[in-house]
Amino acid sequence: MLVNDYIPVTHCQRIILPKIGDNRGDLSFIESGNHIPFSIERIYYIYNIPDKQLRGAHAHRELKQLIISLSGSFCVQLDDGKNKHTAHLDSPSEGLLISNLVWRELYNFSENAICLVLASHKYDESDYIRNYSDFLEAAGFAS
Ligand code: TYD
Repeated sequence: MLVNDYIPVTHCQRIILPKIGDNRGDLSFIESGNHIPFSIERIYYIYNIPDKQLRGAHAHRELKQLIISLSGSFCVQLDDGKNKHTAHLDSPSEGLLISNLVWRELYNFSENAICLVLASHKYDESDYIRNYSDFLEAAGFAS
């Protein structure tokens, strides 16, 4: 049975993905609606990340995402306006589910880190909240 880890940030979760390993290597897979609670509309990945680079630093109004470290490692700080949690991702067989209205910052990327993102919607700049005060207001907290 897959055991997912609770994270104290609204609707965020560390998801343990299926891993099928044999002497040829390991294989993991993700099915919409089965391992993640949304249909995948878009996939993107971040790579060639310079040392000490910060990524993210925004929230989304509607978008939900699953973030996976395909190679190397990095940290993700999650913030729902009330609670914060820092996750360290270093395994292609684990994902971090990030709900909408969660501020996220990605940092501490190792050399050759590849961050894969499965997203519930196509790219839409109007879905981004790039200002922290605006995020707190959207999340229901006075800034
Ligand atoms: P951004 O989401 O700000 O990057 P990150 O959150 O990883 O730091 O996106 C960087 C740029 O890429 C920005 O100009 C928007 C563009 N972009 C797309 O065109 N399509 C996409 O699917 C994504 C994620 C970004």
